[in-house]
Amino acid sequence: MMTYSAPEFLVYPELQSTNTELKNLLAKNKLAEYSVIVTPHQTAGRGQVGNVWESELNKNLTFSLLLRPTFLAPHLQFYISKLVSMAIIETIKQIANIEAKIKWPNDIYINDKKAAGILIENSILGTKLDYSVVGIGLNVNQEIFISDAPNPISLWQLTNEHYNLEKLLERLLENIEHAYHQLEVNRLSLINNEYHNSLYRISGYHWFEDNKGKFEACIDHINEMGLLTLVDKEGQKREYAFKELKFVIND
Ligand code: BTN
Repeated sequence: MMTYSAPEFLVYPELQSTNTELKNLLAKNKLAEYSVIVTPHQTAGRGQVGNVWESELNKNLTFSLLLRPTFLAPHLQFYISKLVSMAIIETIKQIANIEAKIKWPNDIYINDKKAAGILIENSILGTKLDYSVVGIGLNVNQEIFISDAPNPISLWQLTNEHYNLEKLLERLLENIEHAYHQLEVNRLSLINNEYHNSLYRISGYHWFEDNKGKFEACIDHINEMGLLTLVDKEGQKREYAFKELKFVIND
């Protein structure tokens, strides 16, 4: 039984994409904040940059949550990604006792593999955010991945245990709600500190790739707008927006 109380908790036996469905419903109805759409069978899950999100029937969490961060100025919208990432990490730690990391900007990594992806679709009204559709895919009990998605991993593959998806979802929603509340009450430095400490490859030099090629650098910081600054081996700072930089993994 769920103890998390969503105003609308819509479970569909099958859907192409929970994000798309939530946005379709929003266009027709006034949905309350914290409404959730979940399906055990997402057939055309959408990922970042037009990628697809693979998820086998009944094996993983694929859901979307509606937030209405009307208190947030659009240039601060990356805070939503931050708090959602932190809530996923916390949930993985609580349920599976695994240390996951946030791979900037929207991936959750365990070691060098991707355990979860986040697709946040925001709508702006005037000078504030109107709504935020937070789509999360978390690989839980899937044993084999067949798509050419880079580096997928599930909690089962790491621990050989099967996890109860309902309980996992409930815990994750509670953790998101809690983290979101920190944002509502403007505890930005708390969020920033925790986020920074949870970043994948936060210390040391690593290989990255931009439009000029591969290079070694370390992460300097991520600013409020979500831009990532690296420092290369010549001490040169390089700033990147989403999609301008790739982490080179296992190269
Ligand atoms: C990525 O890593 O590229 C983001 C993946 C996001 C997948 C989730 S699954 C639930 C929600 N509905 C979608 O269509 N996509 C997101």
